[in-house]
This record gives sequence, structure tokens and C-alpha cells, in this order.
Amino acid sequence: MTSDLSKTGILLLSHGSRLDQGEKVIKAYTDMYKEEFPEAIVEYGFMEMREPNIPQTINKLTEGNDLEKIIVVPVFVAHGLHTKRDIPKLLGIESDFDESKVSGGHSHDHDHGHHHHHHHHDHDEETFDFDGEIILADPLGIDTRLYEIIKERVSQNL
Ligand code: NI
Repeated sequence: MTSDLSKTGILLLSHGSRLDQGEKVIKAYTDMYKEEFPEAIVEYGFMEMREPNIPQTINKLTEGNDLEKIIVVPVFVAHGLHTKRDIPKLLGIESDFDESKVSGGHSHDHDHGHHHHHHHHDHDEETFDFDGEIILADPLGIDTRLYEIIKERVSQNL
């Protein structure tokens, strides 16, 4: 934990859905974090399909706070096109994503299956202004703590 949490914004980033369940989950994690670290400047947001979106959330974090850094935690299980390509683009940061590695003659938009570019909100053009450092953390990944939940979901239904 950085010694100067007051200079750090934390964004818990969820995919976004038209249904409400996803927001309930990411909000609950955000509240848990706030409760454990009351001094933390933490918000949740969505990469698409729901607000607050990324610019709105970054504006919420920076408003009234003199931040040097924003840590974005993608609450995704694994890396994919969203974490490697789309989220870095939305954050305006560099990515090691290599487009040629995924093109096998298919369009990525078609591969993805849920029509990202077909929903336009009034806020799509919204921007944020932040001169500090933006760090995109790793997704949740392979972890025995997640494996325990998988096992529990199976046993609950045996
Ligand atoms: Ni998506």
C-alpha cells in the first residue's frame, strides 16, 4: 500500500451490463474497500453499456483531489481484448496488445459477440483530463481463492 493514499485514485472497473446485478457486485466490492481503507479515493465504473463510464469515473476521482496516480483494477477473470486493447484505449495509455496476433481473418467485433459499437449514449464523447500516471492492473487471474469459489458453486448444486 502506498504511503500516500491521498494522492492515489482507485477505479474498480467492471465490464458493464444493462442488467443491474453487475453493478450490485462491483459496488459491494467498492464499499468493502472503502470500509477497510476509509482514506482511500475509490470509485467503480464500467467500460461499456452502463454508467458511470471510464471518463465519468476518472472525473469523479479527480474532482477535489490532487491525484498523482490512478490505479485501474479490471474486475475481469482474465486478460482479453477488453483488457488488452479496449480499456487501454479508453484510458489513453499504452498497451502491449498486438492486433496481428488475434486476426485470423475474422473481425474482432464479430468475434466478440455483444455489439460494443452499437450503443451510443450522449456521454460517449465525454472526456477526462488527468495529467498523472494511469496504471492498469492485472485482472483477477489464476488464484486458489477463486478456485475455492468454483468448487463451492459445484458442491452447492450436487
Ligand atoms: Ni464486451
